[in-house]
Amino acid sequence: MGRFAGKVAVVAGGASGIGLAILRGLRRKGARVVCGDVSEERLATVAAEFGAGVATTRCDVTREAEVEAMMALAASRFGALDCAFNVAGASRPGYIVDLAEGDWDFTVDLCLKGVFLGMKHAARHMLGRGGCIVNIASLNAHVPMHGGAAYASAKAGVEMLTRNGALEMTPDGVRVNAILPGLVETPLTKRHFDNPAAHAAFLQRIPLGRAAQPEDIAGPALFLASEEARYVSGASLLVDGAWAVTGYPDMRPFRGRPGWPRQG
Ligand SMILES: NC(=O)c1ccc[n+]([C@@H]2O[C@H](COP(=O)([O-])OP(=O)(O)OC[C@H]3O[C@@H](n4cnc5c(N)ncnc54)[C@H](O)[C@@H]3O)[C@@H](O)[C@H]2O)c1
Repeated sequence: MGRFAGKVAVVAGGASGIGLAILRGLRRKGARVVCGDVSEERLATVAAEFGAGVATTRCDVTREAEVEAMMALAASRFGALDCAFNVAGASRPGYIVDLAEGDWDFTVDLCLKGVFLGMKHAARHMLGRGGCIVNIASLNAHVPMHGGAAYASAKAGVEMLTRNGALEMTPDGVRVNAILPGLVETPLTKRHFDNPAAHAAFLQRIPLGRAAQPEDIAGPALFLASEEARYVSGASLLVDGAWAVTGYPDMRPFRGRPGWPRQG
């Protein structure tokens, strides 16, 4: 049946990209899964593909009541909650001098508060009986990028939130870890793959010579949630083809200069 036989997982942001690859891996290895996502269209596709072993639910991870209900669905439908994957994320980029307050709030709420709410309500089903939480941060937790201040700051926050969670929850049997992906080919990053010059600039930075596919991230995420990682908690696992050792490409040629008028 596989190493997640009898286990129940929630994947928040599970209807696309990395989350969908995690969901597929969990199903292949025997878990029953709740897939939460804000996109009803994508959820319908997931429901049609997976059938009874996957429960889909519309959930905006920035809304506490919806996150609480998503975690509760795992218990009511499948009897428990063993693993939670906090994957939902996106950004509204912009240089600091241009960035609207609302775009900062959108990005930080989704990428950081969403993970906090996921951890809080997943852990309430796990503390004392055991479980694990895997948060998807980013290479940008360590490496800044042009136009990415809100996203990189939020992802750095996710890394610290993961460590804080491990400090608070590990004594009660809940392991908390983070994955820091590099460039992954998903709908989120489509624009980089559609632009050959931008794609080439990324590849120059990636010693492994290619971007990741979502399955390249799902494998390590499932490892952290598995019994093989039973002594791992509070860890950040870079899954980036060694990109972190080289730095970030200069994206200004593709993004343009800041728009805010300079004085003098
Ligand atoms: N693709 C990359 O290169 C890359 C690199 C590093 C980190 N990440 C992170 O990985 C995670 C997954 O990204 P992806 O590339 O698979 O993107 P994706 O766009 O393919 O999938 C993200 C999913 O999250 C859902 N979502 C968005 N807002 C939501 C909300 N408020 N509530 C619930 N669901 C919501 C979307 O509907 C979508 O299904 C994100 O946190 C992203 O920041 C991605």
